[in-house]
Order: sequence, then structure tokens, then C-alpha cells
Amino acid sequence: MKLLEVKGLVKHYVRKRGLARRETIRAVDGVSFSLAPGETLGLVGESGCGKSTLGRLILRLEEPTAGEVIFEGVNIATCGEKELRERRRHLQIVFQDAYSSLNPRRTVGASVEEPLANFGVPRSERREQVRELLQLVGLNPEEAAKYPHELSGGQRQRVNLARALALQPKLIVCDEPVSSLDVSIRAQILKLFRELKERFRLSYLFISHDLAAVSCLADRVAVMYLGKIMEILPAEALSQARHPYTRALWRSVLPPDPRNRATLEPAVKGEPPDPANPPSGCRFHPRCPQAQELCRWEEPVLREIKGGHLVACHMVV
Ligand SMILES: Nc1ncnc2c1ncn2[C@@H]1O[C@H](COP(=O)(O)OP(=O)(O)OP(=O)(O)O)[C@@H](O)[C@H]1O
Ligand code: SF4
Ligand SMILES: [Mg+2]
Repeated sequence: MKLLEVKGLVKHYVRKRGLARRETIRAVDGVSFSLAPGETLGLVGESGCGKSTLGRLILRLEEPTAGEVIFEGVNIATCGEKELRERRRHLQIVFQDAYSSLNPRRTVGASVEEPLANFGVPRSERREQVRELLQLVGLNPEEAAKYPHELSGGQRQRVNLARALALQPKLIVCDEPVSSLDVSIRAQILKLFRELKERFRLSYLFISHDLAAVSCLADRVAVMYLGKIMEILPAEALSQARHPYTRALWRSVLPPDPRNRATLEPAVKGEPPDPANPPSGCRFHPRCPQAQELCRWEEPVLREIKGGHLVACHMVV
């Protein structure tokens, strides 16, 4: 049984260029994948490839241009307000910026209590639940009286996680939740994500441009490039990735070898193309070391090459 099924999801933004010209930004351009209960899918790709847009579409914080987001059998992309509110209990998001995600004028306790109050948990039970939630994320319940500015970045992200967990979600979209934290704190928060996932059989869509962080938490990894998924594979198979883009990203997380010049060079050369004007054929072709004539005019489809391993590349047979 699938918890989430995303089918042909598209989000195009219209950007004004000067007085008369408009252009279409293809932020998410036909994405499909599914997620099982308790599974974590890591979503990686360069800045601007559409990761956050995809995350927001799954929670319907944005209206999709086309496609379906089926969560627990209901199409979130088109359902009514009442149904959406009910589904949101089980569908939460944690953002990168822990500070701006919290109301600076509210105590930590009040922030964690808010979703409980919104979903009708009696006042008499809320205080105890807030204490339990703070303990669950490794905070002292006494921190409930503090304001966000009195906490460290790592503590603030723990509060956001407590808030997200308040309604016992089944899926949490985590949009770069550790990227703005110090390296030492990052490891602790990743460990907390892992413990919570195992304890509550949570599913995460874990968005990051850091493939190393993703690979230690995710069951499977989806690699996105310019609004499309290029490869989906089990995290333990990353060293056997087949798509040239995934292979380059994977090489970049391995320690550089001074005897091998290739490992000292940037993983992928050149800038990503403009999503308002994506290259024809395979979108990766202008930067792909293996590109052939066919790649310039025919777009490869994402197809399964082995159980659970999908690749969009003409050269992978
Ligand atoms: N509200 C918006 N209006 C217009 N364009 C947008 C909007 N939101 C995102 N975009 C564009 O859509 C593309 C995808 O953006 P998105 O934020 O999803 O990328 P990302 O992969 O999350 O990048 P990053 O790693 O930097 O967070 C970018 O070109 C971005 O400029
Ligand atoms: S389809 Fe062609 S350009 Fe695209 S990744 Fe494969 S080899 Fe490279
Ligand atoms: Mg983003």
C-alpha cells in the first residue's frame, strides 16, 4: 500500500520580462514517484532545480499547474478545503529556516500547543502533551517558557520538529532542515530525525542539496535536475548510480584524491540552464560528458532498469 503517490506533477510560474514579455518557469515539469509508509525518500539536486516547489506542492501550499498528489488515497491537488484540512493532520513540513518558522512573540510552549488547539485537543490535555513532545525531541520541558530568540539554531529546529509531530503525522516534508546548522549540530539533528522515523514509522520526503546527509537517512534517493527526476535508486546503491548527473554528484561527496585530477574538479561543470528555457532533448545534455546526437533532440523517459532503480538516460540500457 502506498502512502503517497505523485503523478505527472507540474508547476509553471509566469515571470514578467519587461513591459510586454512573459516567460514560463518550468519549476516542476512532470514528476512522478511514490512513497511507502515508513519510507524516506531523499530528494537532491542543484539550487533552483525545483525541490522546494515540489515539497510545497505535496502539501498544497501551492496550486499545481497539472498532476496528482494522492495521499492516503485522496488527491490533495484537487480535494476540497475540509478534506485538505483533515489530511494536513498527517502531512507536515519542516523548513530550513528554523527561526522564521516560529512566531517570535510566542513562547516555545505556545508554538507547540497551537496545532493541538487547532485540531480540538482539550486544553486540560495540551500542557502535558507539549511537555512530552519537547522531551521527545530532546528538549527540557522547562524550555516551553522561552522565546525563539533565547534558543540556539539546533534547539529551534527541535521545536519545529515537536510542532510537526504534535498531530502524529504519517509524512513530514523536510526542506533542507539541517542546512543552516553548524556541522556538529547537524549530525545530532539528523540522528534525531532517524530515531523519530524508526520509533513512529514516519515517512519523510527529505530535501537537501547535500547528498552525504541524504544518503545516511534515506531508503531511496531521487535526483532532480531542472524540474525533472533523472534517477531514483536505493540509497545503498548510490555507488552504482547509472545517470551521469547522479554519478557526478556522488563523486563529489567522496574525499578528493590528489593523484586523480578529475576528483579535484567541480562535480558538474558549468551553470544549470535557465528553467524558463530548458535545453531540448535531455535537459542535462549541455553539461553531460557522455552526450550523443540523440540526446539533443529526444528526451529520455524515466524507466525501471532493475527493481526500484529508475533512470532517464539514453545511454543506460
Ligand atoms: N513563487 C515563485 N515565482 C516564480 N518563480 C519561482 C517561484 N518559486 C520558485 N520559483 C523558481 O522555480 C525554480 C525552482 O525553485 P525552487 O525554490 O523549487 O528550487 P530548489 O531546488 O528548492 O532550490 P534551492 O536548493 O536553492 O532551495 C527556480 O528557478 C525559482 O526561481
Ligand atoms: S540522455 Fe544523453 S545527455 Fe542525457 S544524461 Fe544520458 S547520455 Fe547524458
Ligand atoms: Mg529549496
